[in-house]
Amino acid sequence: MLSRIPSTMLSLERPSSFSIAALLIIFATVFKFISLVYLWSKQQRASQHIPGPFLARWTPLWLTYHAYLGRRYVAVHKAHQRYGVMVRIAPTHVSIAASDAIPVIYAQGPNAPAKSSFYDAFVCNGKPSLFSTRDRRDHSRKRRVVSHAFSSIALREFVPMIQSSINEFLESMDKTCERGEFFDALPWFNYLAFDILSDLAFGKRIGMGSDVISIQNSPKNAIALVNEREHFSAIIGIYPFLRWAASFMDFLPGRKATLGLENLGRTQVLERLSSGASRNDILGKLIIAYGYDDHCPSNDEVDKLTAESVTLLIAGSDTTSNSLAAIIHFICTHPRVYEKLLRLLEGAATGEKSLNYEQAKEIPYLQATINEGLRLHSTNSIGLHRLAPKGGLVFRGHFFHEGTELSVPAWTISHSQEIWNDPEAFRPERWLEGKELHPYLLSFGKGPRACIGKNLAYMQMTLVIAAILLKYEVEVKYRELETTEGFMHKPLHFWIKLRLR
Ligand code: HEM
Repeated sequence: MLSRIPSTMLSLERPSSFSIAALLIIFATVFKFISLVYLWSKQQRASQHIPGPFLARWTPLWLTYHAYLGRRYVAVHKAHQRYGVMVRIAPTHVSIAASDAIPVIYAQGPNAPAKSSFYDAFVCNGKPSLFSTRDRRDHSRKRRVVSHAFSSIALREFVPMIQSSINEFLESMDKTCERGEFFDALPWFNYLAFDILSDLAFGKRIGMGSDVISIQNSPKNAIALVNEREHFSAIIGIYPFLRWAASFMDFLPGRKATLGLENLGRTQVLERLSSGASRNDILGKLIIAYGYDDHCPSNDEVDKLTAESVTLLIAGSDTTSNSLAAIIHFICTHPRVYEKLLRLLEGAATGEKSLNYEQAKEIPYLQATINEGLRLHSTNSIGLHRLAPKGGLVFRGHFFHEGTELSVPAWTISHSQEIWNDPEAFRPERWLEGKELHPYLLSFGKGPRACIGKNLAYMQMTLVIAAILLKYEVEVKYRELETTEGFMHKPLHFWIKLRLR
């Protein structure tokens, strides 16, 4: 009789440490799940009085769907027009379209709202970079290290490298003049920014300027990888379940793009480290700041350096090129601005066909035109996700529980009648009329997580706009600029014809 009972059941042995550990893991998981559901329902109930699209109040799928369509900012903008200043755009996410919310949600200080789990979707190589690190202290530490590479002295040192990429770009543009036809300049702007950033972040231009067509058609087209990854992360970031599911699906184009970029970055970083060469670029400055010039970095350290370099490449390339295309589009579709800017550029160039950075940055109308283009196009259109801190957050008498996601929709603020008076007009003069408008320009984010590459981006945009306008007559084919949204807002194409001046 006894023999038919499985021997394991008869065993009086104590459970092994393995089974105790397994039980503990199961308990911990169940406990975590229950506490998450509890927290979620508490935050959801607390925000219940805030209106929003019906679906959005119950599931993140409403926001996910619009992010998938590349039109999240439009959907959120329309929701604000319908429901008012505060809108629930996901069960525990409240969007606040008010300028006085900017210094609250993107505040500085020890109890400032941190980035939410949305940013986990942007982690590269399993190592959070400056961009995707959520913990406040970790972030401050990383920011201190990385900011060495973005000091004003460092930026001045980068000018010859940037200028050399721009010269190569202008040579390619000269060839389009010979053909005298309209062409889509967007890929060229992308490749230029990618050349500049890969030169600075990896110490090597990744061949973009030389052969656009073959690179465009290549599955390894790094720009396509950046676009794919950015859109993918902006979708799965909203929905934790999708993030978890996607981690098992390496066949998805967005996952492939992420892995492709990680490989690309790792190869470049290893090549640089093993060559032992020192170069005065961003990677060189990071290697010194991390102390890897003194000792050979471990695998883990190489991963960290790769994550940082890849992030800089992603964060700094298509953001700058898409902004550039949009700004030049606005200049060319507003002849009054075009004429005025050109006269000022020619005045500063004193008969030459080019301006150096020191000369160009001193033209206030050029800087105003860049700001106005950034505002109208709104490269950053979404509300950047933050979490109500420990103890919760109060805004205009509303209490938001700790962990509620909050954001200020950048597109809506950039097009607010109340702030800008004539928000749809492209009028650079508004930046020179004495009213302080910078606190409302959300293109580079605000607060402790604002863009570290802002000055580098202004430098590139200043140099490229001055170079193009002084050298060519630019004619645009279409008055409207068709756009889409990944994480950032970008033109879909930019058809122009150039003639040598
Ligand atoms: C016109 C060009 C650019 C735009 C519109 C832009 C926009 C932004 C925005 C909106 C953020 C805040 C993101 C958030 O809070 O979620 C950000 C952060 C960041 N950007 Fe940029 N960016 C540009 C150029 C650059 C460049 C050239 C670089 C570097 C090479 C760069 C590197 C970064 C990094 C590392 C962060 C994260 C900073 C942190 O969390 O401390 N960006 N950028």
